Amino acid sequence: MDGFSSMAQSDSNWWRDGIFYQVYPRSFQDSDGDGVGDLAGILQRLPYVKSLGVDAIWLSPIFPSPMEDFGYDISDYTGIEPLFGTMADFDALITAAHDNGLKLILDLVPNHTSDQHAWFVESRASRDNPKRDWYIWRDPAPDGGVPNNWLSEFGGSAWQFDETTGQYYYHAFLAQQPDLNWRNPDVRAAIYDVMRFWLDKGVDGFRVDVIWHLIKDAEFRDNPPNPHYVEGRPPNERIMTQYSTDQPEVHDVIAEMRRVTDEFEARVLIGEIYLPLHRLMAYYGNDLTGAQMPFNFALLLTFWSARSIETIIEDYEKALPRGAWPNWVLGNHDRPRVASRVGPEQARVAAMLLLTLRGTPTLYYGDEIGMHQVAIAPEDVRDPFEKNVPGIGVGRDGCRTPMQWDATEFAGFSAARPWLPLPAHYVRDNVVNLEADARSILSLYRRLITLRKSSRPLVAGDYHPIAAQGDLLIYRREAEGQAVIVALNLGPDPVAVTTSAIRFGSSILLSTFLDREDERIEGVLDLRGNEGVIVAPP
Ligand code: GLC
Ligand code: MG
Repeated sequence: MDGFSSMAQSDSNWWRDGIFYQVYPRSFQDSDGDGVGDLAGILQRLPYVKSLGVDAIWLSPIFPSPMEDFGYDISDYTGIEPLFGTMADFDALITAAHDNGLKLILDLVPNHTSDQHAWFVESRASRDNPKRDWYIWRDPAPDGGVPNNWLSEFGGSAWQFDETTGQYYYHAFLAQQPDLNWRNPDVRAAIYDVMRFWLDKGVDGFRVDVIWHLIKDAEFRDNPPNPHYVEGRPPNERIMTQYSTDQPEVHDVIAEMRRVTDEFEARVLIGEIYLPLHRLMAYYGNDLTGAQMPFNFALLLTFWSARSIETIIEDYEKALPRGAWPNWVLGNHDRPRVASRVGPEQARVAAMLLLTLRGTPTLYYGDEIGMHQVAIAPEDVRDPFEKNVPGIGVGRDGCRTPMQWDATEFAGFSAARPWLPLPAHYVRDNVVNLEADARSILSLYRRLITLRKSSRPLVAGDYHPIAAQGDLLIYRREAEGQAVIVALNLGPDPVAVTTSAIRFGSSILLSTFLDREDERIEGVLDLRGNEGVIVAPP
């Protein structure tokens, strides 16, 4: 049976063959001239997303929110934030996405709500409120201080004293983001109903926010100090998160969530998890009953060298549980843009890496046009993390700037001044210009996606390392007797590829410079600085 019919054979595995594209709704397209992106804007830009060749859109939160953490502080799980539009706009978007063969993934933020959520308003009203135990309330320490030494990811103690009832509540992030108590079965049931609400509407799955945070130590023991703390790093890193995250019971919760998505056909559960490899692997669950895609952020965090990337790939491949499907991420709304991390030349190599590795790739909007981390002037800072922990580079505004569509005043993003600034070079680096340039990074992304989709080895093949010497990273992908070889030059100097794996008469399918297609390799394969190629054997 032809491997290409796998989509049809089992649509429930669409997410394995697919490519995900993350949209940060505030910054994709504004339709109503308020400087903030919205659902009608995304609808308007659907043809562009479709034209990239991706299969699924993941939307960062679109629910009612005071926007203290830009939507990751939800005050109503089953509504639509008015800034973003209405439920009718959402319905129109999901219908149009599906009509265009695109899946739609929502962000589920179950770890915490906004302090404006009705549940928390009730919970904080009195100690005997029926929702009291929906959040995490603790008595002050004997000296009146915080219950333990746990720290907020965004700076300061994770405990907030509440005058009304004389107790502290726990918040892993902002004080305006109280953590739900996932040991309470009513909380679980309530969130599972939220999931069903959206699944009933046809959403194709969830990316679950900070899923490794859901359960905390039952005894609230103090976290140990971090012996590897580096001065100048965010203050929360001074202590480990041994008791505040990644507790064994979290896997029962995730298995329950998975059972909820499995009540529906062909849905996917993605987990946001920043943990060392072996802890990460546990999030696939016993017998793969956990998340289908525990996000693999290794490429976001790595030093950019052939040797370290090869090691990352090999370690990851080795650690994967039997039957578990890999995935790779190059950028998201919390980390500096890839084009700034590795430089604009290597951004093209990074694109080839992402789209030729084994496993589902997730793209971050704007990376396909090489968007940079935008410098944010102090008066333009919006990110609460940067406001709380200023000046050490934790700010996330620079990777959340408006999509650069064209060279007009606000880059085609909005008729008004956008909520975050545009960099001056958007007049050059924008979709319209890059579409007109057959060798642009955007053209490269499109060619890579097209090639991946038509290549059984790239979609489903095994991964075989060949070499990581100097700046060269070479690997083979192979399926059903077909193979392709990927050779990436991670440095600026030209290099001759002498591996016997690339045989005489091989041909170049694609170069990151988009100027060598169908070149036959008669002797040695020469790579220019910052060049990657995909090669087909004779
Ligand atoms: C996740 C989100 C991040 C948010 C945090 C708290 O890490 O990706 O943007 O600030 O959770 O919800
Ligand atoms: Mg708007």
